[in-house]
Amino acid sequence: MKTSPFIYGVAVSGKSFTNREKELEKLTKNLVGGINTVIISPRRWGKSSLVDKAIQQISEGNLNTRIVHIDLFSTSSEEEFLSKFAREVIKSSSEKWEEWLKIGKDFFKQLIPKFSVGIDPETDFSVSFDFGELIRHKDEILGLPQAIAARKKIKFLICLDEFQNLAAFDGYENLEKKMRAEWQRQKDVCYCLCGSKRHMMTDIFDNSSKPFYRFGDLIPLQKIERERWIEFIVAGFKDTGKSISSEAAALIADHMRNHPWYVQQLSHYTWQNTRKTARSEEVSRALEELLRTNAPLYHKEAEGLSGTQINLLKAIAEGVDQLTGTAAMQKYALGTPRNVSKNKTSLKNSDIIDENNGRLEFLDPAFEMWFRAQFLNR
Ligand SMILES: Nc1ncnc2c1ncn2[C@@H]1O[C@H](COP(=O)(O)OP(=O)(O)OP(=O)(O)O)[C@@H](O)[C@H]1O
Ligand SMILES: [Mg+2]
Repeated sequence: MKTSPFIYGVAVSGKSFTNREKELEKLTKNLVGGINTVIISPRRWGKSSLVDKAIQQISEGNLNTRIVHIDLFSTSSEEEFLSKFAREVIKSSSEKWEEWLKIGKDFFKQLIPKFSVGIDPETDFSVSFDFGELIRHKDEILGLPQAIAARKKIKFLICLDEFQNLAAFDGYENLEKKMRAEWQRQKDVCYCLCGSKRHMMTDIFDNSSKPFYRFGDLIPLQKIERERWIEFIVAGFKDTGKSISSEAAALIADHMRNHPWYVQQLSHYTWQNTRKTARSEEVSRALEELLRTNAPLYHKEAEGLSGTQINLLKAIAEGVDQLTGTAAMQKYALGTPRNVSKNKTSLKNSDIIDENNGRLEFLDPAFEMWFRAQFLNR
């Protein structure tokens, strides 16, 4: 039996990757040209997939460029970040572990790195520092890539995913200043910084009173266009010996409002539910399955909201424009105008709603469907 051509939950590549030609061209050009680039989009719209693809192309064509890729999702302190940063920079600077040890000797003046290398250095190699010293001499770590690059006549491309996580650490403001001061002087190092908490990313990179203002080119990643999804879905079915009408494929994209992760998920369920040819009935059944599967997550999400926040979401789901108008405030029990504005900000900050051309909408299309069924009996 063929396996499903539709993949979700991991960064996609090869045949599972579609569209993004323009973004890819811009990103690769920037990164090869040494222009720092910041990519911002809501969760699961395809940042990692795009960056992976750009990195792959760059590493094929620029053998002199060393690539460092760090996901900060599970990093929980400044010390952990700095150690990880040092480790990955050292590791990518050479294939030989003997050279890593030499870097430890040659490039640190204040800090004393402790190395441990196991039987397989590839997987069993770590660098650690005295934590107190690490914070005091963080510029030595932050300056490491440029120091190595200059000596070895190489370049570094450093990608940091979920960058906004750093902002939650104790002492972030000092780290932020130091990072900016070191990094903007580095001639042979280019940074690609991604993040999904948009209000935090925007506050870091687009606020003129903050150090990272104008640090690099800002790319707000969009969803993938409907037409491209239709082609992609039709091709995925065809390649695996099944078929789907373009109408049904369009239905998948429309239900999920072109959201990359969800379009792939709904396509997958539809594909699984189809023996030969998918039509709108198969899509409807798949949609029910998708909502059933994800319901526990949505329950949890709704449980974290206050009564007036739920009410505000009801009004948004029903397309109410004037949220602070007396009629809407009464009909939906939204509280005071101050409540409305606070709830709006908080729902935006937690990426539940988004403002698009002045209109508020749910960011997660399937959560919206579940919400309507749950709270509005639709
Ligand atoms: N270019 C693409 N072509 C096809 N599907 C895509 C593409 N980009 C993303 N997707 C779909 O969206 C899912 C999420 O993609 P990815 O992990 O790259 O997003 P992300 O923005 O990095 O997410 P997160 O915020 O969770 O890190 C993928 O598993 C895939 O199903
Ligand atoms: Mg990602």
